[in-house]
Amino acid sequence: MFYDTSLLDDIRARLPVSQVVGRKVRLTRHGREYTGLSPFKSEKTPSFTVNDQKGFYHCFATGAHGDIFKFVMETEGLSFKEAIESLASEAGVQLPEETREQRKQVKKRDILLQISEQSCQFFEQQLRGDAGAQARHYLQQRNLEAGDCQKFRIGYAPETNNPLKSWLLEKGFSEQHMLDAGVLGASTKNKGQTYDRFRNRITFAITDLKKNVIGFGARALDASQKAKYLNSPETDLFHKSTVLYNGASARQAAFERKQVIIVEGYMDVIRSALCGFPNTVAPMGTALTPNQLQLLWRFAPEPVLCFDGDSAGVKAAMRAMEMALPKLIPGHSLRFAFLPEGQDPDDYIARHGQEAFAKIIQDSRSLIDVFWSHHIGQGRWDTPESKAQLEQHIQSALGEIGDQSVRTYYQRDIKNRIYHYWRKIEQERWAQERAKSYANKGTFQLGRFGNRKTSTKFASPGKGLLASALLQDTAISNPLLQRETLLIGCMLSHSWLIDSYFEEISGLAFRTTGLDQLRTAILEIYMMENGNDTLDSGHFHHHLKEIGFAEQIEKTGRVLSQRPEPYLSQDAPQDFVEQSWLQLMALQRQGTNLEQEQERAQQRLLQDNTEENFERLNLLKSQDIHLEAGRKEVSGNKEIDDDFLQKILDRVEAKNSGK
Ligand code: UTP
Ligand code: MN
Repeated sequence: MFYDTSLLDDIRARLPVSQVVGRKVRLTRHGREYTGLSPFKSEKTPSFTVNDQKGFYHCFATGAHGDIFKFVMETEGLSFKEAIESLASEAGVQLPEETREQRKQVKKRDILLQISEQSCQFFEQQLRGDAGAQARHYLQQRNLEAGDCQKFRIGYAPETNNPLKSWLLEKGFSEQHMLDAGVLGASTKNKGQTYDRFRNRITFAITDLKKNVIGFGARALDASQKAKYLNSPETDLFHKSTVLYNGASARQAAFERKQVIIVEGYMDVIRSALCGFPNTVAPMGTALTPNQLQLLWRFAPEPVLCFDGDSAGVKAAMRAMEMALPKLIPGHSLRFAFLPEGQDPDDYIARHGQEAFAKIIQDSRSLIDVFWSHHIGQGRWDTPESKAQLEQHIQSALGEIGDQSVRTYYQRDIKNRIYHYWRKIEQERWAQERAKSYANKGTFQLGRFGNRKTSTKFASPGKGLLASALLQDTAISNPLLQRETLLIGCMLSHSWLIDSYFEEISGLAFRTTGLDQLRTAILEIYMMENGNDTLDSGHFHHHLKEIGFAEQIEKTGRVLSQRPEPYLSQDAPQDFVEQSWLQLMALQRQGTNLEQEQERAQQRLLQDNTEENFERLNLLKSQDIHLEAGRKEVSGNKEIDDDFLQKILDRVEAKNSGK
């Protein structure tokens, strides 16, 4: 039904927001505004305001904002149409007349609703009466008291003589209307013959959100009956795909708890609702439909689907996931709770109690988690081809997400998971190879992916050095270590350098183990995230910390903060940064060469302790200081020209050859 805006304005004009809100929130007036405790969040100091002039409420705690219609929709779980109807009658505003066709439909609907309600009452009576003795016994066995049956409007449909049909005929309803309401069936053998649809069955009333009975689910009492459950057919009232069993009662509870639980069966809903979860619903014995999902999202942002842990349950969960992906919108998702194999919520609560069930719900998994587990559970991902295939499958599944923003965040999150997952697989592979090589050679070869905490190679590098020389900034600090730290600092502050100098950085082995690992990790992150335009320094820091570099990063940061080089600043001019970077790299190359020479000289001295060898080593050692001077010039002079480095290198060269 379409209502035009002037009608809504009319209702708004007659109902101040403070009046509508005031029913739920105790408001205090401050000039033109009212304040009170937010109905959307439990709080001690008021952050909720209402302004009658402007016609809206605003919650500073949650950001909730809207008019009277939105307010009753949000706090009472009404649909927009229901909100209009409810507030229109409160405001005394007449809603527009319906067309003749509409009136006819409404009239018929009304008759079908009466038939459904009368049928429900009939079944309830039968359950209480003589005919219902066996059914009562059965329900008792299933631990349902008379009061519970009343609450859920459980009844009994007797076996013989079509008693419902007779009863409804007596009340003046036509057979055609009974057929239309779905309580009678038409015989296929005898044309024109009708019969009670439900026979010798326990009946469960299915209602719409206003608690009008619109159909029935009916359980066979006798195991020999054809179907265990028989539902009403599709009628003008009952559309299986849009109805939720117990929806009317669950709605308010779901709203208050900001949670709704979806189980498979009627009995599961009833047991769950009786055991502390009034916010439980079920679809009509079918898989959850998009319509039902939209409805559930009006109850709570993340409905929890509860499945049996067996293979059928897992399959059903996957179907629900596939159905939901295209529908996802910001702020709305699904969660998945799995019960032990072969137990439905009814069985589970009977066996383990309601607290255990609460735990199952509490431990429910997010949609993305289940999505991820589902995909990586599909194979062994140990070859490049299989890895590529996994990524392809995931990408195509994610392509189903309709909302672009949600899709982007899924893609990012999954990319991240893939990155960590490949790392983990690789770590495991290396660990295996290490173990093998240990068994073969009797030596313990630490691989690149060795466990950082225990392997010597990955133990925080140069702990002693960092603590003594660099951190205390003594004159004889290790220039190599400083330069490598500065290079790392440059990469992290100006990640575009990684893009421009990827090859060079890859070839630039650092001598300081910890910093070299950091360098490799930065390159790896860059490779994994290639094309991601959010690769800023915060992003790198976050990733590096996540993969175990927190300590190293912190140390590097400490060193850099003691030596704040101007080109490290985020807003340093790009060409200045680039020049400084190039010079640092050249110095680094020289430095590593020098160190190698120093090492060789040291070896020679050890083997052959002559004056000459001693002098040579000393000379090489003294060149560190010149390289260090070079670094200082890099940092001190903004007008460095391209010849600058050559000069330093010449100087080193000259010194080296003893001139
Ligand atoms: P189940 O077979 O799991 O039954 O069907 P249940 O809910 O555990 O019922 P009890 O405990 O044996 O009484 C789950 C749901 O599937 C639908 C019904 O909605 C049922 O609640 N169903 C099942 C049917 O519609 N038809 C059937 O024949 C069986
Ligand atoms: Mn069951």
